[in-house]
This record gives sequence, C-alpha cells and structure tokens, in this order.
Amino acid sequence: MPVVLVAEELSPAGLSVLSGDFEVRHVDGADRSALLPALADVDAVIVRSATKIDAEALAAAPRLKVVARAGIGLDNVDVPAATTRGVMVVNAPLSNIVSAAEHAIALLLAVARRVPAADAALQNGEWKRSKYTGVELTEKVVGVVGLGRIGQLVAHRLAAFGVQLVAYDPYIAPARAAQMGVRLVDLDELLRISDMITIHLPKTPETLGLIGADELARTKKGVIIVNAARGGLVDEQALADAIRSGQVGGAGVDVFVKEPATSSPLFGLENVVVTPHLGASTNEAQEKAGLAVARSVRLALQGEFVPDA
Ligand code: NAD
Ligand code: MLT
Repeated sequence: MPVVLVAEELSPAGLSVLSGDFEVRHVDGADRSALLPALADVDAVIVRSATKIDAEALAAAPRLKVVARAGIGLDNVDVPAATTRGVMVVNAPLSNIVSAAEHAIALLLAVARRVPAADAALQNGEWKRSKYTGVELTEKVVGVVGLGRIGQLVAHRLAAFGVQLVAYDPYIAPARAAQMGVRLVDLDELLRISDMITIHLPKTPETLGLIGADELARTKKGVIIVNAARGGLVDEQALADAIRSGQVGGAGVDVFVKEPATSSPLFGLENVVVTPHLGASTNEAQEKAGLAVARSVRLALQGEFVPDA
C-alpha cells in the first residue's frame, strides 16, 4: 500500500479521502529530527506552512512522488529541487483565499478601531473611551500590494466601505484593475498616498523585504499596515521602529520571519495587533484545503491526471 505522510494537521474530510487505499502516517513536520527519518519510505507527504520540504528533506525521501501543500504559498517547498527529482508538487490555490482576505480585513478594522487594546483594558475593569478613539475606513485611500486572488477579494470587500482603492502589482493589466475600481500605481505612489496598506504578495526573492525602512519612511504619517501574506515582506524591525517613531500609526500582522514566533520586535507595541498565522485557519478553508490536496495525492499516486485543485 502506498504510504502518505501527513506532516501537519489535515482536515478529517481530507483524511477520509485517503483512508482504505493508502497507509496514512503522521509526524510533526516542524520537528526536523522526526521528519527526516519519517520520509524514508513514503510515497507522498502533505504539509501546511510549518514543514520545510527542502533539498535535504527530498534527499531523505527516495520513494517520494508527491509533495502536497494544503494551502497556497509554496515558499516552504523547494519546487525546483522537487522537479529535478521527478517529484510532483501540488497545492490548493483557491482553498483559503476568502479566509485570508477576511482575516486581513479583520486585522485592518481591529487596528483602525483599536479593538484588542480596548477589549483588554475593559476586561481589566478600565472604561477608557477617549483613549481608544479610532479612525474610519470610509474615504481613506487603501493601497493593496499584490492584486492577485486574495488582494482582489480584499479590494472587492473594502469597496463596500467606501474607500479609494489603489494597488501595486506590475503583473496585472490596468484594465483588469479598473474593472474592480482599483487604480494601478507604482510602489512609490502607493506608499505616498495610502492611509492604509495591505500586503498580499507571495514570498519570493523579489518580494522579501519589499517594505523596509526606506519604504516606511516614504509613507503617509500615521499609515496603518497589514501583513497577512508572509513574514519578511515587511521588515519587522523597521516596522517596529516606524511605529515607535509615529511614522506608522498601527499594524496588523499575521505572519513572521521566524515561525512559530515567540518573540518579535512588534510584540508589546501600542496599536499593533498580532495573530499566529491564522489567515487560513477557518473550518471552511481547512476542509477545502484538506479535501483538495488529498484528492490530488490520491490521483497522483494512482497514476492519474491531477487537475488544478
Ligand atoms: P496570487 O498568486 O493570486 O497573487 C499574488 C499577486 O502578487 C499576483 O497578482 C502577482 O502578480 C503579485 N506579485 C508577485 N510578485 C510581485 C511583486 N514583486 N510586486 C508586486 N506584486 C507582485 O496569490 P494569492 O492567492 O493572492 O496569495 C498571496 C499570498 O498570500 C500567498 O502566496 C501566501 O504567501 C499568502 N497567504 C497567506 C495566508 C495566511 O494564512 N496568512 C493564507 C493564504 C495565502
Ligand atoms: C497559505 O499559504 O495557504 C497559508 O500560509 C495558509 C497556511 O498554510 O496556514
């Protein structure tokens, strides 16, 4: 029976697709010393974002035929190394886009209206109405960096708040953006005119560190920044410094350079809202991701055509 190694939590619906015809084993993929030996005789491995399938992991898996990523970003999988070894890489690009978009908006609103800080104060018996005065979204300029699937969902939803939308994405046609009521601009202009900036880029050599100290210095004073895409797209230390100086008014951050993140320059700062990589953590997204990758693994190991998930 082909062996499928599940290296992170997979939805029950996904597991049921595999039951019967495959031996399903489990390992904590974030624990390297457990992962590498567990890969020795498996035909497929299913991961989320905490498991690194790099050249070393691939070399430890001589029978491997499929790496399945139960989500979108493939930055934790060395796709060229897998391809060189003849290992297929599949993901679930549509599974969690709505959840990720909604989470970015949740962070934006939480920062704009200071919800977590006001909640913590009141739970502590402090009724401080003027301390937690916020800002409206209506009529603000919102800059979307990366107008792909998630960026478009965010733009569409934010349009209902009456914001002015601009986006930076050199790979999107201006006409397509215009159809969505979004004006494409270059990064400089986006930084200069946006009251709020939300980032929806993949992590690539080009995008890593795209928003650093220089870029933050060119933003509108008091800008709110949301990063629910990948750690490192916005430099964490530079963002913390810019918040301390008042250049940036607040930030919502779901993703960190090093995860799990147990410390960060952003922790403990006034008007920073952080979540532990929860963008895709909804029942709906996890069910869709689990089902999509389990079906792809099943088809691939049975030698059948694997359509886009
Ligand atoms: P997508 O591929 O549909 O969109 C990405 C967009 O970024 C594309 O339109 C592309 O043209 C643009 N882009 C690429 N390089 C760029 C650059 N250098 N400058 C400007 N734009 C650039 O992907 P998506 O589905 O929208 O997802 C985006 C990312 O969000 C994923 O790669 C993943 O890392 C992250 N994500 C995070 C969570 C979470 O849990 N926080 C959940 C889902 C996805
Ligand atoms: C993704 O890229 O899909 C996200 O990081 C979601 C996740 O794996 O939790």
